[in-house]
Amino acid sequence: MSHLTTESIIGVIGAGTMGAGIAQVAAKAGHPVLLFDAMEGAAQKGLDGVANGLARLVAKGKMSQDQVDALVGRIQVVDSLNDLAPAALVVEAIVERLDIKQQVFGDLEKICAENTIIASNTSSISITAIGAKLARPQNLVGMHFFNPAPIMKLVEVISGLDTDPAVAEAIYQLSERWGKQPVHAKSTPGFIVNRVARPFYAEGLRVAEEGGADIATIDALLKQCGGFRMGPFELMDLIGHDVNYAVTSSVFEAYYYDQRFLPALIQLELVNAGHLGRKSGKGFYDYSEGAEKPQPQTAAPAPAPKTMTVEGSLGVAEPLVALCEQAGIKVFREDDGNGCIRVGEATLLLTNGQFATARAAASSNRNLIHFDLALDYQNADRIALSPADHASAEAVNTAVGLFQAIGKQVSLIDDIPGMAVMRTVAMLANEGFDAVNQQVCSEEAVDIAMQGGVNYPRGPLAWAQQIGLGNVLQVLNNLAGVYGDDRYRASPLLRRKVAGGI
Ligand SMILES: NC(=O)c1ccc[n+]([C@@H]2O[C@H](COP(=O)([O-])OP(=O)(O)OC[C@H]3O[C@@H](n4cnc5c(N)ncnc54)[C@H](O)[C@@H]3O)[C@@H](O)[C@H]2O)c1
Repeated sequence: MSHLTTESIIGVIGAGTMGAGIAQVAAKAGHPVLLFDAMEGAAQKGLDGVANGLARLVAKGKMSQDQVDALVGRIQVVDSLNDLAPAALVVEAIVERLDIKQQVFGDLEKICAENTIIASNTSSISITAIGAKLARPQNLVGMHFFNPAPIMKLVEVISGLDTDPAVAEAIYQLSERWGKQPVHAKSTPGFIVNRVARPFYAEGLRVAEEGGADIATIDALLKQCGGFRMGPFELMDLIGHDVNYAVTSSVFEAYYYDQRFLPALIQLELVNAGHLGRKSGKGFYDYSEGAEKPQPQTAAPAPAPKTMTVEGSLGVAEPLVALCEQAGIKVFREDDGNGCIRVGEATLLLTNGQFATARAAASSNRNLIHFDLALDYQNADRIALSPADHASAEAVNTAVGLFQAIGKQVSLIDDIPGMAVMRTVAMLANEGFDAVNQQVCSEEAVDIAMQGGVNYPRGPLAWAQQIGLGNVLQVLNNLAGVYGDDRYRASPLLRRKVAGGI
């Protein structure tokens, strides 16, 4: 199946958002491309869209007009599926319906050569199920690009039950030659990205649903503290709640109603109300003209403390020590201790998934305050604090002053277990480990997929290693204890690694 070369003709079916982008990627790599769409004029419109997009690159000096002309010249619009006969690979990017995809691939098989690879860009349909109606299911593979296809690096190469491994490997290698970062994955609901990303939305939704923090604050924390490009609420508003809710529901159903993927009622309410996000002018945020964007909760300035004591190691939060010293705070260190910062009356601890209130009561330390996980404590602009219910106003003020002294904006949020960033990252990592445990893909593939497909600032599994797998497991176990449902059960693979000290 290594018959795919730069001279190979690539067919693309469907010239919408994805198909046009895929045609552009293939043509950029030097292939002659045949572009077909069932709707009259749609393929030409897709090609015009490619040309217009590239014209903007010429204007910016990123491509020459000659290069653009050559690229566009390699894409030929065709009027019939029959015209795809000479293609060595056909990539399908049509409507997301199993019956229609089966029909199109069935027709295609009769038109193309026996060794033509047929690939689907489906986001959610089983490759095994599409292949079930084909005479040569071994030639079918998932080739899942991300939007916008010319820009996003990731291609998930999906093998159904009958996919020939050599076909999957050929598409993997071709994707690399197209400048992409491919990963292999087994055909399972959500593949890698649409499965592992669920908690990014789900945890934000749960924190908001429980009044842990308002949406603007959660978004700000995931961005300014967690390092994500967008917060979950603005991202859901961008994707559209109809689409995002449908993906969540389909993954939930496909995994036999595993609580891990439970959709959120507050999102269903938006769908029911027709508040679909940016496209309808309103979602979690209001996009109508003149509407004011709500600001994240930010604590008023508080005085900087002069000294603090660190007991034990702060682990992943250790960079805070140097930052405090640089800010002129005298830091005393004690070797023994549970990794806390004592400042004034306050005791600060990185959230471990318990209520700060419970931890305060158990340790008879009423002024216990949790702080959240940051991607990078040095560069984070914002941090969240969750004081125990017993904490005094003075202790809270001292804690706020400490983080402000090192240049952070502070969001005081309710005592919600796992806070905003930590619970999200712990659950992303847990889902990643579970995908690996269920043989969907390799550990490396999880991190590549989440960085290349949805721009995560760090792969969730590498991030979990940095936090310490034992700490991640503890967060999950504590969340499971608080909520008492199955959603936070730790992946057997994570448990195994922690048990093995790996
Ligand atoms: N939009 C995304 O963000 C995204 C990302 C990854 C994968 N996908 C998947 O890619 C596929 C296409 O999505 P899209 O967003 O580009 O859709 P789209 O609606 O923008 O484009 C689909 C195109 O397919 C054409 N079409 C429909 N039925 C056809 C048929 N039987 N034969 C030929 N052409 C036909 C339509 O006329 C339309 O031009 C879907 O399977 C979707 O799940 C979408």
